[in-house]
Amino acid sequence: MKIMVCGKGGSGKSTIAALLAKSMANSGYKVLVIDSDESNYGLHRQLGLKLPEDFMNYFGGKKAMIERMLASFKTGEGAAVNIFDKKWTFADIPKEYTSEKNGLTLLAIGKIHECREGCACPMGILSRGMLENLVLTEKELVIVDTDAGIEHFGRGVEQGCDIILAVIDPSFESLMLSNKIYLLGDSINKPVYFVLNKVDDESKQVMLAAVDNENKIAGIIPANNDVFRACLAGKELDLQLAEIDELAMFIREGKTEK
Ligand SMILES: Nc1ncnc2c1ncn2[C@@H]1O[C@H](COP(=O)(O)OP(=O)(O)OP(=O)(O)O)[C@@H](O)[C@H]1O
Ligand SMILES: [Mg+2]
Repeated sequence: MKIMVCGKGGSGKSTIAALLAKSMANSGYKVLVIDSDESNYGLHRQLGLKLPEDFMNYFGGKKAMIERMLASFKTGEGAAVNIFDKKWTFADIPKEYTSEKNGLTLLAIGKIHECREGCACPMGILSRGMLENLVLTEKELVIVDTDAGIEHFGRGVEQGCDIILAVIDPSFESLMLSNKIYLLGDSINKPVYFVLNKVDDESKQVMLAAVDNENKIAGIIPANNDVFRACLAGKELDLQLAEIDELAMFIREGKTEK
């Protein structure tokens, strides 16, 4: 199964992606975490892994990707260009572009390194291509940590995923965006489930009322001081939360299948 984790900036996408990946790996899954956020440097630390070299370099780097993109507009393929010439399995992922431990593998699509190097569209094309062309066995799982907001929907990245987890924090903006994510997911026939994050007793009631569809809630994760402290220090999230294990169980038991 391929899971996209998306939501508003700062809602907790990377935190949920990292904790969920660890929980799934603990229960015997081989988990590939794809860091598709070109401007976030926290996820690898949360996983306790080193940031691998940009996967984009395997395809010749950003300049080469931009050239392929521009050529594709001439042939009419446009942003739908497929840069993979065959289907891949986990074994095809070049090890020098990953870091791994304890059943977890991290792949980072590409970061912005320099001023004026150009936008992140090539990263979106690579993320989409990877998701569409990667073939999984039953005990393999992909978790994609996305950049904030919904631009990746515009780039078609969600096309290759099986489910979308929309992380919602206790803010009006986050609740509004989750509605939009739900509609966008529905329009491409991808099931969207909500993860309420940083929740306390008061905010939980407001958030549940706003979502107004308990069947669509995959997990409710409390505001947790240990999580907050580890994130502030840039440390590995080396803790087990019952609520994350419940979210993992929800996914393992296939409750997300339409
Ligand atoms: N369950 C939680 N309990 C306490 N704090 C949390 C929790 N989840 C996230 N946080 C806090 O929220 C901050 C932002 O989380 P995170 O980086 O995961 O968000 P994000 O959505 O990935 O952000 P970005 O949009 O920048 O990628 C963390 O640094 C941490 O302080
Ligand atoms: Mg993040």
